[in-house]
Amino acid sequence: MQAYKRFILLWFLFLLTICLYFFQLTGKSKKFKSKESKNNGPKKLPSFIDDWEQINEIGRPPTPKSYDLRLHNSLYVSYKKTNKNCRMETCFDASRCDKNFHVFVYPLSELDSNGLMTSSRSILYQKMLDIILESRYYTDDYTKACVFVVAIDTLDRDPLSPDYIRNIPVKMQRLKHWNGGRNHIIFNLYSGSWPDYYEDDLGFYTGDAILAKASMSVTNMRPGFDISFPLFHKKHPERGGESGFVRSNTFPITKKYKLAFKGKRYVLGIGSETRNSIFHLHNGKDTIIVTTCKHGKNWKDAQDERCIVDNSLYEKYDYSELLKNSTFCLVPRGRRLGSYRFLEALQAGCIPVLLSNNWALPFNEVIDWNKAVIWADERLLFQVPEIINSVSETKLFALRQQTQILWEQYFNTIEKIVFVTFEIIKERLPMLQSRNGIIWNTSPGALVSQHSFTGNLHFNLPFNYHLLGKKPGTNFTAVIFSQQSTFHTLLNRLVRNLSASKYLSQIVVNSCVESGGKSGYQTIAGTQILISSGNGCRRFESLPFIKTEAVLSLDDDVVLSTDEIDFAFNVWQSFPERIVGFPARSHYWDSNKDSWLYSSKWTNDYSIVLTGAAFYHQYYNTLYTTWLSPLLIKTVEQSHNCEDILMNCLVSHVTRHPPIKVSQRKHYKEQGINGMPKSPWNDPDHFMQRQTCLNTFVALFGYMPLLQSSVRLDPILFKDPVSNFRKKYKQIELISN
Ligand SMILES: *[C@@H]1O[C@H](CO)[C@@H](O)[C@H](O)[C@H]1NC(C)=O
Ligand SMILES: *[C@@H]1O[C@H](CO)[C@@H](O)[C@H](O)[C@H]1NC(C)=O
Ligand SMILES: *[C@@H]1O[C@H](CO)[C@@H](O)[C@H](O)[C@H]1NC(C)=O
Repeated sequence: MQAYKRFILLWFLFLLTICLYFFQLTGKSKKFKSKESKNNGPKKLPSFIDDWEQINEIGRPPTPKSYDLRLHNSLYVSYKKTNKNCRMETCFDASRCDKNFHVFVYPLSELDSNGLMTSSRSILYQKMLDIILESRYYTDDYTKACVFVVAIDTLDRDPLSPDYIRNIPVKMQRLKHWNGGRNHIIFNLYSGSWPDYYEDDLGFYTGDAILAKASMSVTNMRPGFDISFPLFHKKHPERGGESGFVRSNTFPITKKYKLAFKGKRYVLGIGSETRNSIFHLHNGKDTIIVTTCKHGKNWKDAQDERCIVDNSLYEKYDYSELLKNSTFCLVPRGRRLGSYRFLEALQAGCIPVLLSNNWALPFNEVIDWNKAVIWADERLLFQVPEIINSVSETKLFALRQQTQILWEQYFNTIEKIVFVTFEIIKERLPMLQSRNGIIWNTSPGALVSQHSFTGNLHFNLPFNYHLLGKKPGTNFTAVIFSQQSTFHTLLNRLVRNLSASKYLSQIVVNSCVESGGKSGYQTIAGTQILISSGNGCRRFESLPFIKTEAVLSLDDDVVLSTDEIDFAFNVWQSFPERIVGFPARSHYWDSNKDSWLYSSKWTNDYSIVLTGAAFYHQYYNTLYTTWLSPLLIKTVEQSHNCEDILMNCLVSHVTRHPPIKVSQRKHYKEQGINGMPKSPWNDPDHFMQRQTCLNTFVALFGYMPLLQSSVRLDPILFKDPVSNFRKKYKQIELISN
């Protein structure tokens, strides 16, 4: 009897299970069908909208493009995408880069067989090419090139996008120096297409070319070969660039919101799982996670039951307010691994919390992202609150600071992004010693810390002393810039005052006289000085015989006492990254003239210290001659003027600090001495020219690099009513003006 009952019960359970199973199966297939029908109907096609990421969110492309897509999809399976085995040793010819790192760009307007222009480019890619063409890296001689950049726009390889360039395989074949892609860089922001967004599908065989590509995964990158590239907006500035938001917004350390996200939610398809689940974290108090299904005109077709609620909540929060008032920002993956949210959060100093497994963060080869972001796991969403709660305030502060450093050094302009890509490749070359990771991950960063092909620099960089625990050099080289053919008495007196300084290492006269000027040693006023002539009258030449870190740049008619020189040098030792000197000038914005004006009036502030009498680090000679854009140098050479303004722009641009004025001296040149030519400083044309230069520099830098200061440094007992014997720099008191 018992056994019979048990038997019946088992049968019953068995039948129930089968019923449930079938019920589920039919339910599923119904759901599946309904999805299908939504995607297929030609009437439900979405229209294109402006934002890249939003394109082809739901549904199929409009008819004209569908042919391409089908072609593309059928090709997908059959062709090879890259040479998977590439490493620098095997696929890159480093011998092309023995002496220099030059980049060749293919001619921008190649004609096809019918004589028609073939290359159309997106604005963004055109900007990138322009930047390269105007940079120090560029060469128009392919035999000298280390790296080749194609003029064919490969940024957007989504066949559904308006910027998609067709027939790339054919175009690549036609490139004269392609050579299987060897030593080429292919830039890419978007690859693959709806619905799969295959990461490595650029629609053509890239072969041995290095991919500088956004949204790569660590597993797909060819190690030490491909470069993970940041995803940035079309509107990203070429030069200049915005600074981070934190400057004025550091405190309180913990903001109003702990964690925030505002963005799109994909109802279907790849990447939707992550974005569909993050709403669980929203609590309306310290965690604000709002999403919208509204993207693409036909979003309603694919909406799910939460869309209405989500969309209304979404409208309640302002994105930029969330960015500024939140400690952490969630950065979930989009369709592809990377998203715009990443750089936006970085700029805002809102510490990115990444939900994008395996994503290779931008430039991860050189940037230590653990110092600026928090990783979470897409599959373990509910750990996010715990992870961010466990971050101490000290760590928070450090992370936030690092977001700003990285944003400003490497990401705020397209120029920086492109240059970092080149620097990474450069750094891999066997003949160059790679830069210390510290240099990459601290301010002012690796872009301004050049390493040379002619061996290591024999001095420290001006901004790294504190990092390396070192002190600036204890002596200086005086470089007197002379435009006269004979050495007059004033120069003699200057040499005498210089040689009385206990910090002087050597005096060099950089002579502008072309004919009859001989290089070599000469004795003036009992001091051996080195005459260097025939370098084309360039003031900031990196002369090989400057052995000291500090350079005192002087005009030959300058008047300075030994005390002033010594005091200024002491100040320079405390601020080796700045220009420290005597005569100062300023700039201001004239809204009537709509331009920048240059001023030599004595005012309460200054932004330029004239290099007719100033200390600076000799590394700036190197930067000036080998790093600045050739267009800037051209401006100086054409005007025979303004080099000192450019040097001030350079140093302020690199350090983001103003120069320093020492001592109260206003006139630093002897006025009206017999035999002296009339000073060009009183010439109004000369002055106007400087104004023009200033505005040209601003245009080329992309912003006004000069920074204002109202600080003047004097010795401590300066003009104090104590006995003169107790003062260290007695002569400074005696200067009359
Ligand atoms: C949010 O940020 C904005 C802009 O920085 C600021 O004006 C506002 O006061 C902030 N709100 C809160 C509640 O902190
Ligand atoms: C300059 O200072 C360094 C040490 O800082 C010293 O080795 C060198 O001899 C000095 N040179 C001169 C010419 O004084
Ligand atoms: C040299 O120094 C003295 C003060 O010690 C000063 O009066 C003189 O003008 C200086 N000469 C030059 C040419 O700098």
